[in-house]
Amino acid sequence: MEKIRIAIVGYGGMGHHHPKTMEGNDLVEFVGAYDINPARMELARTEGYRAYESLDELLSDPSIDLVTVATPNDVHKEICIQCMRAGKNVVCEKPVALNSAELEEMIAVSKECGVLFTVHQNRRWDEDFNIMKKIFDDNTLGRVFCIESRVHGSRGIPGDWRNRKECGGGMVLDWGIHLFDQMFMMMGDRKVKSVFCKLSYVTNEECDDGFKVIVEFEDDIQFHVEVGTSNFINLPRWYMLGENGSAVMSDWKNGKIVMVSDWEKRDAVPVQTSAGLTKTMAPRTKETITEYPLPRVDVTLRDFYRNVARSIRGEATQLITHEQMLRDMRFMEACFRSAEENRVITDFE
Ligand SMILES: NC(=O)c1ccc[n+]([C@@H]2O[C@H](COP(=O)([O-])OP(=O)(O)OC[C@H]3O[C@@H](n4cnc5c(N)ncnc54)[C@H](O)[C@@H]3O)[C@@H](O)[C@H]2O)c1
Repeated sequence: MEKIRIAIVGYGGMGHHHPKTMEGNDLVEFVGAYDINPARMELARTEGYRAYESLDELLSDPSIDLVTVATPNDVHKEICIQCMRAGKNVVCEKPVALNSAELEEMIAVSKECGVLFTVHQNRRWDEDFNIMKKIFDDNTLGRVFCIESRVHGSRGIPGDWRNRKECGGGMVLDWGIHLFDQMFMMMGDRKVKSVFCKLSYVTNEECDDGFKVIVEFEDDIQFHVEVGTSNFINLPRWYMLGENGSAVMSDWKNGKIVMVSDWEKRDAVPVQTSAGLTKTMAPRTKETITEYPLPRVDVTLRDFYRNVARSIRGEATQLITHEQMLRDMRFMEACFRSAEENRVITDFE
């Protein structure tokens, strides 16, 4: 069977990373790239790939089956549409578009042209997410009532186009969309009941450099999503609370589960603080709790391009669907609306 031949538009940081995610995948082959920056074209050439002189030249190469678009966010729509109109299947980097109206237009073109169109929500294959999803799916902690998902950095917004609003900058569009997508994949069919969002502008006046969102889902699950870029002390990547236990993931890999082993024994030695005494907040005695390691998961991002290739051949359905892409975009818009109007949004469908 012939391999799906891939070209990349935008051979910057992420564009350059894509071929690595195709390694060991005998269904696809990376052929060449186009970038407006001559230095990036030179890089592609020195790596032995074809450097196309223009997007038109790339699109008129009939041997290219799929184009991966990894440019700054503001030109995703225009480039994806141009590629689809040229009959190419398209993988677009996240955020797939700046808003849901743009995305609807892109989806309509993909249907009209009969080509595959999906987005690279690669963080669905991240180990930390899949470990926490397994704990949730396996009901390890009993009824889960709170999940916190956050990423913290301390360098502000990177000093590139991510700083500029007209380029689709800001942390909601950058990291938020990853975390929202993971949240929905974990929550399954549960509907959103309410959303409240606050944006931060600590290091940048133009674009949000972080945010906090509290989402209430059906089944009384509260989901907190947070991105910070002025955090010199990181809080855990994940924190999950169930009626019988808690799970924490301190970073991208390490953490633990603590389960109650004896609910009846609640006695505790009161904690003496500098100006008070508390028994309610005193730690449980060791014999009433048990600590477990996090479960293991077996996931690989290689499955992304495998699925894309098999979907193009008609042997599979695309894993990252148009409905999911639209859901993520509309949720992002609800967050912006909540922050702008400083209110809880309850009409998210
Ligand atoms: N999925 C992920 O984990 C992940 C990680 C990083 C970035 N991204 C996404 O990838 C995209 C690119 O981000 P990046 O960090 O690689 O940025 P970058 O600035 O490193 O690279 C962007 C490249 O696009 C080129 N470019 C700009 N306009 C172009 C045009 N009209 N035609 C062709 N090339 C053009 C630039 O010259 C540059 O080389 C963004 O959408 C970003 O959100 C995704």
